[in-house]
Amino acid sequence: MNATAPKSLVEIAYDSELTRQCGRVLVDALADHLDGVQAGDGLVQRWRDPELNISDAAGWLEAAEFSGPDGVLDQFKELLELSLQRGQNLNHPRCVGHQVPAPLPLVGLFDAVTTMTNQVQGVYEMGPWGIAAERAVIDRIGKQIGYTAGEFGGLVTSGGSLGNLTALLAARNEACPWVWGDGNQPHAVTDEAGMHDEGQRADARMPVLVVHADAHYCIDRAAGVMGIGKANVLKVPLDEQRRMDVSALEGLLASLRADGVPIIAVVAVACTTAVGAFDPIDSIADVCSRHGVWLHVDAAHGGAVCLSRRHRHLVRGLERADSVVFDAHKMMFVPAVCALVFYRNKQNRFRAFEQTAPYLFDPSAPDMSEYDNGVVTFECTKRSAALGLWAALSMFGLDLFEQLVDRVFHVAQQLYDLLDAAKQFEVLGQPQANIVVFRFLPEMLTRQSGDTSDAASLKLSQLQLRIRRAMLESGFAYLTQTTLSGNAYLRCTIMNPLTDESQLSKIITEVNRVGPLLWTELQETGLATD
Ligand SMILES: Cc1ncc(COP(=O)(O)O)c(C=O)c1O
Repeated sequence: MNATAPKSLVEIAYDSELTRQCGRVLVDALADHLDGVQAGDGLVQRWRDPELNISDAAGWLEAAEFSGPDGVLDQFKELLELSLQRGQNLNHPRCVGHQVPAPLPLVGLFDAVTTMTNQVQGVYEMGPWGIAAERAVIDRIGKQIGYTAGEFGGLVTSGGSLGNLTALLAARNEACPWVWGDGNQPHAVTDEAGMHDEGQRADARMPVLVVHADAHYCIDRAAGVMGIGKANVLKVPLDEQRRMDVSALEGLLASLRADGVPIIAVVAVACTTAVGAFDPIDSIADVCSRHGVWLHVDAAHGGAVCLSRRHRHLVRGLERADSVVFDAHKMMFVPAVCALVFYRNKQNRFRAFEQTAPYLFDPSAPDMSEYDNGVVTFECTKRSAALGLWAALSMFGLDLFEQLVDRVFHVAQQLYDLLDAAKQFEVLGQPQANIVVFRFLPEMLTRQSGDTSDAASLKLSQLQLRIRRAMLESGFAYLTQTTLSGNAYLRCTIMNPLTDESQLSKIITEVNRVGPLLWTELQETGLATD
């Protein structure tokens, strides 16, 4: 009697053969899904009410029952199918919504190496190859930005929001070294170069952050987290292309310096989230260096133009920024989240945080802090997020990324041209990036142009929101909305290099079909705010 003992649940859960079987099913299902989605015949998303989805997902948990290894394989297939059906299809050519890309499939696959083997960062020894890959990527992309080899440094964060907070903390600790120890409090700055004095004078002032008026909300949020106070986040006016007005910046910094106000940083943007406007970084860098102020550039969306010979002029001067945030999970088309943070002076990596953690950082090997990411990132346990990007750069080189940027910028221009040629659309200026902002104008309004009353504007705004909602719920296309000077607009971001003019024409035809119907409905039912 030597019958083998049945495997325990734990043994089955870690069984490599079961993993192999499920893995094969997974790869085939993902490739088939990609095939179908990229063809663009189906829907971008099968819209379902959130509560319905939550209750379906909960139903699976309530019914959970282990039914042996074969049963697990069947369930794996079923859950996989369901998850693919219920998600949003970013690889669909009519998915032109937020700044989240149709991810490079091989990067997604390669990322499984990180997740399956759970390579984390904090200390080098826990994810040595992940950290090595991250360093190599930072080095490669930093050189593309134009930073001087050997002088700059960087790290990867879980997203641009955290990247901006991290870089701004470094800037704050540089400009206001008293805060980490003593907390936020008024301080005096005396000399022209902005050096702080002992600080406790009667005319001492709270530090300020000077930001682009259209900066992403995460900048305000970072200011909130740092306790700067909303009143001390100073917005620089914009020019007619919604870029930072450099002469207004000059005036503002001059008056702040004259008043002895500590300035944490100037936050410029490349490019803005709402309309894709690129700041004139070179001129802004001139102003910042004249006043001795840290220049931070939020290039979460547009940083990747430095990989394109055709478009890199848009970030001329980026290499002069003290810090830069650059989301690889946007315009480098890798799955979320992988944000790159750069410092022109690599020592500034160590400025953002101060802590002692003897259980983590080995005091017998102080040199390892150069490689222990926990000292430079907010996170302690952190996924090795750059391994997939490193693999893609190794397999395809920078050429692929140049082509991706050039392609989506070109398609955005095609969308602009199509909309501009159609009289029922008002397009908000030539796109500077791959973001196009426009409004559908019902025939009645185009005929009686000139009705700028508040009621007419409100109605027009409601129409744009209803059009977007209709597209979302039908699943035909995915667009977003934005509000500029109080008016709602439709907004498309081309984040799928396989989106082409024929798919854009289909979207426009659909907007033209639903727009008048929704306009009539709006006339009949009145405004939602009525
Ligand atoms: C300019 C800009 N900065 C920051 C962010 C936030 O980045 P993340 O979503 O990676 O946190 C975004 C996101 O859209 C952005 O467009």
